Amino acid sequence: MLILGIETSCDETAASVVKDGTKILSNVVSSSMRYHRKFGGVIPEIATRHHVENIDKVIERSLRKASLSIKEVDVIAVTQGPGLVGALLSGISCAKAMAYALGIPLIAVDHLKAHIYSSLMQEGMPSFPFIGLVISGGHTRLCLVKDFDDVVTIADTLDDAIGEAYDKVAKILGMGYPGGPLIDRLAKKGNPRAIKFTCRPLNGSLDFSFSGIKTAVLYHVKKHVDAQALKSTRLPIADIAASFQESALSVIVKNSLKAMEKHRIKTLVIGGGVSANSRFREMVKKESVSKDFKAYFPPLELCSDNASMVAGLAYRLYKKGIRSSLDITAN
Ligand code: KG4
Ligand code: ZN
Repeated sequence: MLILGIETSCDETAASVVKDGTKILSNVVSSSMRYHRKFGGVIPEIATRHHVENIDKVIERSLRKASLSIKEVDVIAVTQGPGLVGALLSGISCAKAMAYALGIPLIAVDHLKAHIYSSLMQEGMPSFPFIGLVISGGHTRLCLVKDFDDVVTIADTLDDAIGEAYDKVAKILGMGYPGGPLIDRLAKKGNPRAIKFTCRPLNGSLDFSFSGIKTAVLYHVKKHVDAQALKSTRLPIADIAASFQESALSVIVKNSLKAMEKHRIKTLVIGGGVSANSRFREMVKKESVSKDFKAYFPPLELCSDNASMVAGLAYRLYKKGIRSSLDITAN
């Protein structure tokens, strides 16, 4: 079965053809990031315009790369949300029009569930239930995955998402946008124990909060770092980056372990932009050996937003008899 996936929830205009849920025949991503960089964050109107102007070319490219004509596609899959509403609507409108014109089924997919699925496209499928962890620019969520269409949220962030915290800390440190990959790289040169930035798990709950640590970094920089030092990528900036990262990631690891313990589950499936982080991968791998659980990470090219995860998950939903109507709207 050939599924064409479309993803437009944020700044990436993406299309992909996936065969039978796991075989990626093409994975095309056109990002509008270069237009957002000077604002230090994604501007919804610019992202939406980029989708509208590029979606047809991205789809054509994905079909060409898969050596297919549109008539050979069996199902159209699209991200329904969560995401920026205008951005989502541009992909949804396109998907609906294609499904209607071609007379083939439409399947709407949840972006966060698709991020979790991205980890399962290369490695074999774990058995249900498992714990899913989404760490991205918009979300920090733990969930109990009982089936592809039965996912229960266990914990969320109460304020900033982890990726957002990375991006804001990078801004405070005078670095570029998006800050996650930059902090990941810089932190390797720093001492993670140099500064005590506390990011405690919340009492009695598995929820997350990252706005406090972001503010702590801001006050530390105001008090201890002069403007000249901010221009360098050497100490103490590297120490701040490493100390922030260590503390924030430790809470995510701890809460994931607690979620697995609580539900007596030995499988953690991770997805989202921050799952590309090298220190996070190291931490989880170490814990998985000492605590004897299996961790699934997406391949690096599927960590950030893409349409392969959308087409892949849609295949599983299709097999369960799920179809979407042509009057769906953005979530
Ligand atoms: O999943 P994603 O592409 O978009 C959303 O659905 O939000 O995630 C983007 C986020 C950004 O905040 C970016 O800074 C972060 O993922 N990110 C990273 C790394 N690569 C991307 N954060 C930490 N370390 C990285 N290596
Ligand atoms: Zn995403």
